[in-house]
Amino acid sequence: SLATQVRQRVSDALAAVRPQEASADPSPRPADWGDPMLRRSDRADFQANGMLALAKRLKTNPRELAGQVAAQVDAGDVLAEVEVSGPGFLNIAVTDAAITSNLAARAADDRLGVPYADAPGTTVIDYAQPNVAKEMHVGHLRSAVIGDSLVRVLEFSGETVVRRHHIGDWGTQFGMLIQYLDEHPHELDHGGAAGDGTSGEEAASNLNRLYKAARAVFDSDDAFKERARRRVVALQSGDPETRALWQRFVDESKLYFFSVFDKLDMEVRDADIVGESGYNDMLDETCELLEQAGVAVDSEGALCVFFDDIKGQDGQPVPLIVRKSDGGYGYAATDLSAIRDRVFHLKAQTLLYVVDHRQSLHFRMVFETARRMGWLADGDGSGDGAADGPVATATQLAFGTVLGKDGKPFKTRAGATVRLEDLLDEAIDRASAVVREKADKAVPPLTEEEIAERGAQVGIGAVKYADLSTSASRDYKFDLDQMVSLHGDTSVYLQYAYARIRSILRRAGDGARPAAHPELALEPAERALGLHVDGFAAVVAEAAEEYAPHKVAAYLYQLASLFTTFYEHCPVLKADTPAQVENRLFLSDLTARTLHTGMALLGIRTPERL
Ligand code: ARG
Repeated sequence: SLATQVRQRVSDALAAVRPQEASADPSPRPADWGDPMLRRSDRADFQANGMLALAKRLKTNPRELAGQVAAQVDAGDVLAEVEVSGPGFLNIAVTDAAITSNLAARAADDRLGVPYADAPGTTVIDYAQPNVAKEMHVGHLRSAVIGDSLVRVLEFSGETVVRRHHIGDWGTQFGMLIQYLDEHPHELDHGGAAGDGTSGEEAASNLNRLYKAARAVFDSDDAFKERARRRVVALQSGDPETRALWQRFVDESKLYFFSVFDKLDMEVRDADIVGESGYNDMLDETCELLEQAGVAVDSEGALCVFFDDIKGQDGQPVPLIVRKSDGGYGYAATDLSAIRDRVFHLKAQTLLYVVDHRQSLHFRMVFETARRMGWLADGDGSGDGAADGPVATATQLAFGTVLGKDGKPFKTRAGATVRLEDLLDEAIDRASAVVREKADKAVPPLTEEEIAERGAQVGIGAVKYADLSTSASRDYKFDLDQMVSLHGDTSVYLQYAYARIRSILRRAGDGARPAAHPELALEPAERALGLHVDGFAAVVAEAAEEYAPHKVAAYLYQLASLFTTFYEHCPVLKADTPAQVENRLFLSDLTARTLHTGMALLGIRTPERL
């Protein structure tokens, strides 16, 4: 990118002014010695303020140092002006030709010039993990949306990504469910022909009804309770009949999950669904290893791990319970086994968990336990430990709570949890209304079918974008009115910006094709747009590095805004010369491709026409 080239030129100049000072300070130079600390700036194209820090170390005047650097710097055909400003900054303007040629190089590349990461590895992303026989809630939505985007961002940067949907498909509640189904065998039958045509909605309501009914008997009938308990034992010991009944719950739930993921326009592959039950065969061994190493100890019959710094309100230590006193395994045993699987079998270097912040204590304890066992590396995994020690690190991307308009956790007016499908349907309805309203202004007008398809793309895009445009750790307000607004930082705005550019390109017809003309002088709005487009690679790298899709969202919003300004100030099809028409078409086309690629990283569609 241009930023890289400018940075290189300034840091070469910095290196060149150094020798004079070297004798004054014989200590070895730190690695960041010559870092010009370059950033984009509104006043010039770029600003470098690294001279301030360097002057401080050299105990010299920063303005003088900056002047020396400015005099040294090799402008080539990249830099138009290098000027000392303020206490010792450099304001740097690049040439119009450099901007256009750089963009031309991006345009020639399918990846828009986004390089692969230097040292890609394998990352397991644990996301989209609803629970069997239970309704999905807005928290599951967040995990799915953020996780899906991270899969895309990391894969785009060259990382090998293994997806793991750690669904809750194990536990004592299945005893009650299975026993009830055994006693009421037709409860999961479907109205239509079994197997096909079954809607996810029907599956969800079947499961709901069954759950409530089973619960009611369980709470009122002690004999049933006892039969349910025996089912838990039978399930854990692998009794085939019990297993088969359990499998029906899993299959029924998957019908429902897939209907929600489909509606979310999200690919979830069956093979990547490895729920808690998937680690069942490892649980005994995991406990043995923990016990042998002395990391877990017996406490009142339970197998526990203790931590110095984790205490309850009563001051008593809060342990991680790996095996309960009745011999049953819980959530922690499963997660510890999953770590072993992911590190030693899948050979991942990075484990990423996209899970609600309410589970942060759980993950803190699980990760610490795994570190004590040597399954995870100590510290940040920067590799300064023993050479043959574990290399994997684990991070929980702990996301915040979804709030209603009123700022309280998202609920229906009656206080019930909102059904995810209803929520998505409502978003699609609202979006369809927005699309419909503009639809007859489109030439040719959109058909009903197109309106429905675009409505879904806009509505689902709105839900995803609202989630992804705030940093994951923060709570966010689920406000459909705001989400489908055409103005402001919404996906709809970005989708319309994309569709508008595509329409300009269509109108250009065959007569004028996008083509870069580096010999042309650029208007300020063209420069601003071009420089921003050129920053795409840097933003993708940052988002991948920091697990921060919201940085891509912010970038895209600014991109669309800069395009709007450009389009207001610079006629495209009616530009002065044919070369200028081509160059502006080229800028428009590259903006559209960047929008499209960036939105795809967020899992959001960009319809060609809206
Ligand atoms: N199923 C869990 C829930 O609904 C989330 C699972 C998170 N992943 C994990 N490896 N524990 O809360």
